[in-house]
Amino acid sequence: MKPLEGKTAVVTGAAQGIGRAICLRLAEDGANIAGVDVAQDVLEETGAMVREKGVQFLGLQADVSRFDQMREAVAKVAQTFESIDIMVNNAGITRDNFLIRMSEEEWDRVLAINLKGVFNGIKAVARTMTKQRSGRIVNIASVVGMTGNVGQANYSASKAGVIGLTKTAAKELAKRNVTVNAVAPGFIVTPMTDHLSEEAREAALSSIPVGCFGQSEDVAAVVAFLARTDAAYVTGEVIRVDGGMAM
Ligand SMILES: NC(=O)c1ccc[n+]([C@@H]2O[C@H](COP(=O)([O-])OP(=O)(O)OC[C@H]3O[C@@H](n4cnc5c(N)ncnc54)[C@H](O)[C@@H]3O)[C@@H](O)[C@H]2O)c1
Repeated sequence: MKPLEGKTAVVTGAAQGIGRAICLRLAEDGANIAGVDVAQDVLEETGAMVREKGVQFLGLQADVSRFDQMREAVAKVAQTFESIDIMVNNAGITRDNFLIRMSEEEWDRVLAINLKGVFNGIKAVARTMTKQRSGRIVNIASVVGMTGNVGQANYSASKAGVIGLTKTAAKELAKRNVTVNAVAPGFIVTPMTDHLSEEAREAALSSIPVGCFGQSEDVAAVVAFLARTDAAYVTGEVIRVDGGMAM
């Protein structure tokens, strides 16, 4: 039997990049997938790939920064599937700029999606999971939430916030057998990092001990482990997937 057979996983930011890889990995492990994204067309591509793995896929268009939209999306998941076992809060954006040039809009949008979006995702499933007395919540942070990064005041603050939120939620939900962990990727090859200059890529590469960039599947493998029943004694943890970049 596959490790996540019969389970249902909600994954935000499921249309591409790390989110798509998480959907595919959890599907391979037997879970039915509810994918949430603002990009409906691309989300359907993920859906087709997930269904090829022999599990069900429900695509939901919602903006994670909007609490009402997340609540509605999760209600549809509850109507479609028997339970909600796994929530992966992965959706995130960057709006990089030096602090002195950063606009209020750049700050607000990144915090709204990357941090409030995770709060909304946790809130949307917390009642169901605590009633079930089981659940796995995995939040995608970033190593820059631990180290800071030039040009990313908004992004690094949002990801540091995700780490604090993860630990508090882990403490509050622990007694109900709901674990809450964070995965902190380093430099992963996705559409988010594709637009970076060759200079920025070379600088990043020189700071990675294993000598190469990560792949979305590297992150998905750790998420899949945290989603399993036998990861029950791991909670409030932040696992770096960064080739040693931030050690
Ligand atoms: N790529 C990296 O190097 C890296 C490193 C550390 C952390 N991360 C984090 O991993 C996560 C995934 O990143 P990625 O590289 O796959 O990014 P990506 O840009 O390739 O994909 C992000 C997905 O999130 C969706 N999204 C954006 N805003 C949304 C919203 N408001 N509501 C719902 N969906 C929304 C996008 O449509 C897209 O499908 C993010 O949280 C990111 O911060 C990425």
